Amino acid sequence: MNNNELVLEGKKYVMNTYGRLPMALVKGEGSWVWDADGKKYLDFVGGLAVNSLGHCHPKVAEAISQQSKKLLHCSNLYWIEPQIELAKILVEQSGLDKVFFCNSGAEANESAIKLARKYAKTKWGDEKYEIITMKQSFHGRTLATLTATGQDKFHKGFAPLPQGFKYVPFNDIEAFKDAITPNTCAVLLEPVQGEGGVYEAEYEYLRKVKQVCEDNDMLLIFDEVQCGLGRTGKWFAYEHYGVMPHILSLAKALAGGVAIGAMLAQEEVASGFQPGDHASTFGGNPLACAAGVAAMTAIEKENILDNVNKVSSYFKEQLMVLQEEFKMIEDIRGKGLIIGVELGQDAGNIVDYCKDQGLLINCIGGKILRFLPPLNTTTNQVDICINILKQALSKEV
Ligand SMILES: Cc1ncc(COP(=O)(O)O)c(C=O)c1O
Repeated sequence: MNNNELVLEGKKYVMNTYGRLPMALVKGEGSWVWDADGKKYLDFVGGLAVNSLGHCHPKVAEAISQQSKKLLHCSNLYWIEPQIELAKILVEQSGLDKVFFCNSGAEANESAIKLARKYAKTKWGDEKYEIITMKQSFHGRTLATLTATGQDKFHKGFAPLPQGFKYVPFNDIEAFKDAITPNTCAVLLEPVQGEGGVYEAEYEYLRKVKQVCEDNDMLLIFDEVQCGLGRTGKWFAYEHYGVMPHILSLAKALAGGVAIGAMLAQEEVASGFQPGDHASTFGGNPLACAAGVAAMTAIEKENILDNVNKVSSYFKEQLMVLQEEFKMIEDIRGKGLIIGVELGQDAGNIVDYCKDQGLLINCIGGKILRFLPPLNTTTNQVDICINILKQALSKEV
């Protein structure tokens, strides 16, 4: 079927929850994808930070193939070899102690919220349940995680929402302190906000947040679903700040393109969960975890973090050259290869033009272009992106 036929069939059978472009992607290799009409694109959307190793990384594909012939699924009533292997890698890289596996970012945050409440209630009393989150944050679409998300537009139409969440402006330490009550058990935040518009936590802010948590018997939860696992040029974004969370959520890139989520915690906090407190049928299944082991090993073996740092500097330099020429570029921000370019005008036409020229990028909040290329992208591919972007911006002047 071609693009048109797939769009028509899709509209007929698939629920209408996404504002989709009128095309279907059917094949991918490295940084490139092809649509159903055979058109080729440079993919700087990257599955919204999932395809960190590009499409169909050979080591990930091989691991999936091998595991699919060995054991596709078994219950968490039994120990699962690839799950243990992946947990070990995550613990060794993160400095946290224990891992719970699930299937998505929302589930990872849902687990984090449950663990924080369970631990806090047991340790500090039943009234410790409230969680502070940031305005403009994004934590997922389950009822608890959309409530944790500090953007009204995601709440509309879903009341009554779960209780016990409070929102404060990001990077405002006084507002954070003022929001704390004897009921507060945790703060949940993204060190680099993704969906909210690519905003980084300030260095001093995160350090103070941790201190405030320690002074007030509160847990620090980082949502690194989008910014974790090499995206910012370090394994975890919190390493840029020298601030360890008590709980960490991960997903997206963890299994090189296969659905997975993980929630990590320090030993003592992790002990808040006992058998029966939380579970997931597919969480930590052999297939996803084998893919995860292959993906994490590839990040290490292929020096992906060095590449992120090198390509990120080059990318930002080239964007700054564009900024000199096009005054509509108001800001360039982000860490590593999560980059936001804020325009003084609507960015929709630019995204469309780039797509027609064979470059996939996306736009958030109407005016912010977001670039999430594979972490193994090259400076040559950045040049291709910059050239197309330049043409797109020229059309807007
Ligand atoms: C920071 C962050 N947290 C949570 C989520 C939700 O992840 P998922 O869509 O896998 O449930 C996302 C998704 O974009 C995200 O960016």
